[in-house]
Amino acid sequence: MKFIGTNDLRESYLKFFESKDHLRLKSFSLVPKNDKSLLLINAGMAPLKPYFTGLQEPPRKRITTCQKCIRTGDIENVGKTSRHGTFFEMLGNFSFGDYFKEEIIPWAWEFITKELEIPKDRLYVTIYLEDDEAFEIWKKSTDIDTNRIFRLGKEDNFWEHGAGPCGPCTEIHFDKDPSKGAVTSAEEFVRESDNDRIIEFWNLVFTQFDGDGKGNYERLQNPNIDTGMGLERIATIMQGVDNIFEIDTVKNILGTVSKLSGVNYGEDPAKDISLRIITDHVKSVTMMICDGIQPSNEGRGYVLRRLLRRAARHGRVLGIKGIFLNEVVQSVVDNYGGEYDELISKNDYIKKIITLEEERFNETIDSGMGILLGYIDELQASKENVLSGEKAFKLYDTYGFPYELTEEILEEKGMSIDREAFDKEMNSQRERARSARGEFTYMGGEDSPVNSVPGEIETEFIGYEKSQIEGEILFLGTDEEVRESLVEGEKGFIVTDKTPFYAEMGGQVGDKGTITSDNFKIFVYDTKKNVGGKIIHYVKVQEGEVKVGDKGILEIDIKRRKSICKNHTATHMLHEALREVIGEHVNQSGSYVDSERLRFDFTHFQGVTPEELRKVEDLVNEKIMDVFNVDTNEMTLEEAKTKGAMALFDDKYGDLVRVVEVGDYSIELCGGTHVCNSGEIGLFKIVNESGVAAGMRRIEAITGFEAIKYMEEKENTLKNACSTLKCNEKDIIKRIQGQASEIKEKEKEINELKAKLTSGAEDDIINSAKDINGVKVVVYDLEDVDGNALRDLGDKIRNKIGSGVVVLLSKASGKVNLVAMSTKDVINNGIHCGKIIKEVATVVGGGGGGRPDMAQAGGKSPENIDKAMEKAYEVIQSLVK
Ligand code: ALA
Repeated sequence: MKFIGTNDLRESYLKFFESKDHLRLKSFSLVPKNDKSLLLINAGMAPLKPYFTGLQEPPRKRITTCQKCIRTGDIENVGKTSRHGTFFEMLGNFSFGDYFKEEIIPWAWEFITKELEIPKDRLYVTIYLEDDEAFEIWKKSTDIDTNRIFRLGKEDNFWEHGAGPCGPCTEIHFDKDPSKGAVTSAEEFVRESDNDRIIEFWNLVFTQFDGDGKGNYERLQNPNIDTGMGLERIATIMQGVDNIFEIDTVKNILGTVSKLSGVNYGEDPAKDISLRIITDHVKSVTMMICDGIQPSNEGRGYVLRRLLRRAARHGRVLGIKGIFLNEVVQSVVDNYGGEYDELISKNDYIKKIITLEEERFNETIDSGMGILLGYIDELQASKENVLSGEKAFKLYDTYGFPYELTEEILEEKGMSIDREAFDKEMNSQRERARSARGEFTYMGGEDSPVNSVPGEIETEFIGYEKSQIEGEILFLGTDEEVRESLVEGEKGFIVTDKTPFYAEMGGQVGDKGTITSDNFKIFVYDTKKNVGGKIIHYVKVQEGEVKVGDKGILEIDIKRRKSICKNHTATHMLHEALREVIGEHVNQSGSYVDSERLRFDFTHFQGVTPEELRKVEDLVNEKIMDVFNVDTNEMTLEEAKTKGAMALFDDKYGDLVRVVEVGDYSIELCGGTHVCNSGEIGLFKIVNESGVAAGMRRIEAITGFEAIKYMEEKENTLKNACSTLKCNEKDIIKRIQGQASEIKEKEKEINELKAKLTSGAEDDIINSAKDINGVKVVVYDLEDVDGNALRDLGDKIRNKIGSGVVVLLSKASGKVNLVAMSTKDVINNGIHCGKIIKEVATVVGGGGGGRPDMAQAGGKSPENIDKAMEKAYEVIQSLVK
């Protein structure tokens, strides 16, 4: 068989189907759009679902792609076997109500036997048990030996995922070892597939039914074709190698890992596992980050984090020291950058994110190790040798410790893990994740009337040019049902033939406004797209009744829209200014634009300094004042990239992209609405800068009247401050500083005066001493002395009397301060300051206590100070026997 490289195979497949009139589209992002049923794209057909269900018109009825896919169901097995991987590419050709079995079967045969020249005696075909039609076509339109066709049941040859389009399929298989003789029965075929001699490499799905997910099928009027061929799988066949880690591209990456670790592949089975894990996982994380996913603790971000940490951990297993994933990333970029050029443009960014996460992981793994050693000590101390499932799970979940690592370390100490309890924790976490994702239909949205707008209904968006238009109501309904009409007071949704309303997209909020006619007045409180991409007006009928077929004037709230436009154009300018001031590594990772403010999230690896913020703000304002025209043009993605347009993660596909240029300052792909000239923005003001995740910062800013309002408020505050301080603006700082030092000065003076006053009182206080059963007792009431000064005074009196007990009380700021102190000797006589204070404080409505020689308290009732003094004598009397 002829050898074909992986990149050539991809090209040859796509070319073949282009020659059959297919439109070739670039791979869609790994992040599903409008599809909550999936975390990551897992098949070639997944991003094309709206075309299959008819909720959206495809750009052509025949499409071919090579789609990036990730499947993580088998993550634990990746590495352990050489067959599993998480990232793969799926070659596919699709017919949306166009060609069907008659065409695809001979084409598939032509591609594999003529293009790839796979010998016919190494091929087998399976069909669905009842699919006689497929059998006849194989027999009539190809020269396959019909003894090589086997019929299998639903689990093998019927493609169905929940409710939605589904159908029988035919699969094409390759025999790795024909020397064992031809397979002659379906049973033998299944056996040889199970033992890996025969491998499936192309699945042709005849999507001819709409299933309800419960076994009931309705024939589709226009059946579809969905085929999927694993690129890596066919590459193993064309390169005569045993598994996906040995095909050219993947082998190159594995070679890099080998070089970095000094470990050769194929010498030690345990180490091969680590080599494979690193190779596969780094490939996945590179692709994921390139598509805009960031490491986090949930959803896609968590999948990314798990893969990345698993790769980093196995680097340690291989003895690699320090940060190394970057070099593996480079190898992925070298091998895949030809097809996915975004890998090259985002190379630095990808490496930065990976390194940050790798560093973080190195820290957590160290602290996790400390915790595990602590658990081991506990077990040894209590003479146990099984670590609880909860603890093992905590290490897994919080510290990124793979189960096997914990197990391995414990094993060395003759210990093990309660696996059952660990699995229980794991399952309940999976359950939580599942229920958080909720139930979604095949199309990945709630099964609601809004999502049932038929595919043929199209809305023309005229909102780039106009704010008002007459339109016809084509479809409407409420949350509960599709309707023919909505009446006064009802809430619901409306779809029209034309609209000026922008549906929320690309971070820009949807428009608000009205739809009116002689018969009705409707408030549009939001505009969004449904899962089929249709523009939905969310409405409340304020007057009258609206019916399907009615005409009305659709008008957006233009004042609000204008503010949104200002913020959106300013967001583009901010993006450019950030790149200029803090560096080219700044990439947009999210944005939000409404009529009040804009929010811009971007990659940067430390806080933006106040000086940088000032520079960015000044730069944007300078460019605003340059009164740049804002132009929007449609062009091909290639043209846009040549012009230097910043393409975000959210790359748009299809024939043309929309490019927004702010003079010669900023150029970006964008579907949003913008001002006509930068001067309309008026003023740009940054109001906040913060961190949102590792390596990600957020700037919030305002423009136009909001910015003016903000400045006015600041001005008012300043004016108020000036009039309060009775000075003019230029003196205000001096005035505040002056007042602050004056206050300090005065405080000092007050304290000195108080000290003088109390020192004058010292003699009076001492002279008031009484003798109770041979103990000298001072109980004295002072005016306006705070707690600290009272204690200092108490100290002095105690020293002066030499032996005895001192109780001082003082009213200050409407409260009572109390202190009791005694010399050591009288404690033997029974004196206990804590006890004295406790009872005395009660009388003045307070509480407190303390040691035998010193106690302090506070009270709320100064009017009872005299009674409190009496109480003091009483208590002392009772204590001193
Ligand atoms: N959608 C089919 C698969 O994923 C082709 O196997």
